Amino acid sequence: MIPVNEPLLDGNEEKYLVEAIRTGWISSEGPAVRKFEEAFAQRTGRKFGVAVCNGTAALEAAVLALRLPPGSEVILPSFTIISCASAIVRAGLVPVVVDSDPSTWNMDTGQIERNIGPKTKAIMAVHIYGLPVDMRAVLELARRHGLAVIEDAAEAIGQTCDGVACGALGTISTVSFYPNKHVTTGEGGMILTDDEELAERCRSLRNLCFQPGRRFVHEELGFNYRMTNVQASIGLAQLERLDEFVKKKRAIGDTYNSLLSGFGQLELPLASTDYAQNIYWVYGIVLKDEVPFDAETAMKRLSKMGVGTRPFFWPMHEQPVLRRMGFFQNSHCPVAERLARRGFYLPSGLALTREQAKTVAKSVEALLA
Ligand SMILES: Cc1ncc(COP(=O)(O)O)c(C=O)c1O
Repeated sequence: MIPVNEPLLDGNEEKYLVEAIRTGWISSEGPAVRKFEEAFAQRTGRKFGVAVCNGTAALEAAVLALRLPPGSEVILPSFTIISCASAIVRAGLVPVVVDSDPSTWNMDTGQIERNIGPKTKAIMAVHIYGLPVDMRAVLELARRHGLAVIEDAAEAIGQTCDGVACGALGTISTVSFYPNKHVTTGEGGMILTDDEELAERCRSLRNLCFQPGRRFVHEELGFNYRMTNVQASIGLAQLERLDEFVKKKRAIGDTYNSLLSGFGQLELPLASTDYAQNIYWVYGIVLKDEVPFDAETAMKRLSKMGVGTRPFFWPMHEQPVLRRMGFFQNSHCPVAERLARRGFYLPSGLALTREQAKTVAKSVEALLA
């Protein structure tokens, strides 16, 4: 089976891990955590980085840190991971979805403004699958309407938008270090901001809201979202190779583009826009309507041929749990609905070889024959 993702851990990961173990620093108190926060924030061009235990926790802390009034509305793409909507809902806020742009699969920025009302307080922009959201439009709208921007750059580590690093574009931004990300720590995440107060609040939320003076007396409920020194040690080694990893992902994307471009029944990822060049976090494909089966059937058939795949996101406005809570009763996002039913992604991890990509392409050809 060609796995859908396999990380590359053959740099300094082992060396730094051994150092963590030999020095006894395995908890979140260890020196690698602060070092990783500083190095990652610097690489992203931000003043502060707050490392946490995963990207979902990063989103939860980031949304809470903004202290938006209960019941405020936050606009997000329907086509994203549940972590985005759950962070909004758990903070006592209301998610409002917009549909995707059919060519970039990112939130259609042209639909944001008509969803801005008196209760709207923030836009959550989520970079999808390797191409960023057009943040020029998001930032202009946010400035004009006085909204905060939560930027989920989980899938866009090493990407830029109009020359600015993804992760540097939100009032508060987040990333994930899950093993399919461009930098992994096994499980992990980080919050990035230039606002010292927001960073401080995230540090407090991550650490049970212990108080500096009276440690075990709490004014607020926090979480244990701490990242360990073991995770940060892996992260430091990974970060050293980010440029190389981005190059590798682009090479994988280019390889698939050339192998699959002849298949007219497929929609392939856009290679570039006027503000970014795809970094192919994953290599997604969408079955055109003329293909007589859907993504689910395609993935089952590819699995039988030894090719691992993953479905695209399922839209937030079609999530049973969120609909039961009363959200999205009148939401329609036809592009997101179609992407969910017709789209899936191919093996695209950093360890993928050209030979494996060729085998995958042959299997896709057999699938469509
Ligand atoms: C866009 C996006 N946001 C958030 C997350 C959540 O990150 P984690 O899996 O580290 O909780 C992911 C995970 O893949 C993601 O793709």
